[in-house]
Amino acid sequence: MTTLDINGKPLQVDVDPSTPLLWALRDSLGMTGTKFGCGIASCGACTVHVNGQPTRSCVTPVSAAQGVRITTIEGVAGDKVGRAVLDAWIKHDVAQCGYCQNGQVMSATGLLRNKKHPTDADIDQAMAGNVCRCGTYQRIRAAIKDAARALA
Ligand code: FES
Ligand code: FES
Repeated sequence: MTTLDINGKPLQVDVDPSTPLLWALRDSLGMTGTKFGCGIASCGACTVHVNGQPTRSCVTPVSAAQGVRITTIEGVAGDKVGRAVLDAWIKHDVAQCGYCQNGQVMSATGLLRNKKHPTDADIDQAMAGNVCRCGTYQRIRAAIKDAARALA
């Protein structure tokens, strides 16, 4: 058994230590908000926070997820930055099919924790690894700026 600190709670998973965190979350814990897209750290659908930093859970083994704070989309509203991002996402009706959006929210929240007033270049850099097949990029940018204003 491995104990992981997820959304402020100690949760146990019975998996091989090499298992990607993504599958421990989805299959062992039933936390299906974190999505599988590519499995090779190239799409961002699986983004969670590790000690507050956006991290690709598809390439993070459970062995590396011990002793750190993990936040998933299910827990991101637990702080004011995550709450502001989710509110802005709803206000701007960002999601189209929705598949990529949990990862987008996690990356956007990580950005706003580090930069209170991100420029377009900051947003481009922080969000570059999050792919949206539906092309919601303009709404994502508007929502991030709105969340930054709400938090100011
Ligand atoms: S599923 Fe992890 S980056 Fe695509
Ligand atoms: S909303 Fe469909 S992939 Fe992004």
